Amino acid sequence: MNAFLNPSIVVLGKRLEGRQQSGLLRKLPVPHTLLDFCSNDYLGFSSSESLQQQFSIAKQTYGNAPLGATGSRLLTGNSIFAEDLEQHIANVQGQQAALLFNSGYTANLGLFSCLPQKGDTIITDELIHCSVIDGCRLSFGKRLKFKHNDLSSLEEKLKMSSGICFVAIESVYSMDGDLAPLLEINTLCQKYGALLIVDEAHAFGVFGKGLVHLTGLTEQVFAVLITFGKALGAHGAIILGSRLLRNYLINFARSFIYSTAMSFSQLLYIQMAYQFLQNQEELTITLQYKIRLFHSCLSQVKEVENHRSAVHAVIIPGNSSAYKASRLLSEQGFAVHPILSPTVPIGKERLRICLHSYNTDEDIKRLCHFLINAL
Ligand SMILES: Cc1ncc(COP(=O)(O)O)c(C=O)c1O
Repeated sequence: MNAFLNPSIVVLGKRLEGRQQSGLLRKLPVPHTLLDFCSNDYLGFSSSESLQQQFSIAKQTYGNAPLGATGSRLLTGNSIFAEDLEQHIANVQGQQAALLFNSGYTANLGLFSCLPQKGDTIITDELIHCSVIDGCRLSFGKRLKFKHNDLSSLEEKLKMSSGICFVAIESVYSMDGDLAPLLEINTLCQKYGALLIVDEAHAFGVFGKGLVHLTGLTEQVFAVLITFGKALGAHGAIILGSRLLRNYLINFARSFIYSTAMSFSQLLYIQMAYQFLQNQEELTITLQYKIRLFHSCLSQVKEVENHRSAVHAVIIPGNSSAYKASRLLSEQGFAVHPILSPTVPIGKERLRICLHSYNTDEDIKRLCHFLINAL
């Protein structure tokens, strides 16, 4: 029978209709030319002419490199280049070892599915990224959640843990942009012998080498995730930690084992962009200035948290209100995404505003003016 005539298709269609009726149907957006207040390209690397030029020149040097990796790293996809890149990033980040993954999503999937085994415990912040949650779902460990950034809630869960205990947090939370109390969480983990894992997807590049490095915790944190798809404007990710962790992941992380490795071009671009970042301190300083400007324009009148990350949430309760606000903004030339429930709790629907080193002062002020006066 033609698959499209199978009666089960009707059920799938009904599920989609349900989404449509609740206003949550996802669609791929049409590419636009609006002012970017929504991408994760915090430092503008994805369109940096200088980086593009450097990349083209470097590519010529490796003229006959293969186009594809041809297999998993464990089969034909490994290269000295990949291993050197891992060790170089590990050294610069002050870590023993590192392992590349095809994306942050697959890195978290691999890490959290293979670390906690039956009898072990994984404690996550309640706002942890979906990739961590999905990884935990594939693991046989027990998962406990603690209240967002709440130390006493974390301690309560630490007391309930059994077996090896892992604690997973983000140093900068992707939907609110607020920072985790890293030092305090680390102290609690040390007290209870738990292994701390920090996702630095939105901190790396915005805060130099990330907040684990900045707070001097590199030797105490068990694993750190850096993604290349955000401030580095590339794609892929790396997990940093001990040599033992790297060997463990090579042996047990299924998203690493059973997937074709990144191509040489991707690795080369990551190498160039990582190097580029080391020489672009002024871009990070500019970004921090833009964040302060946005905050000073908006904070007297709107509920926005005063933090130094590039992500800011302007709460507009209700899915339809948040959606409408984003549409009004796009009519004014601003690209700002609404974040709806159930991605965020009901009543916490919001506009997620991302600031970039390349947003002009004028545009930031105009955006704030519109947020204050029209919403
Ligand atoms: C906190 C966090 N971790 C992991 C990821 C996944 O990273 P990637 O986009 O490289 O798959 C994201 C991306 O949205 C994220 O925000």
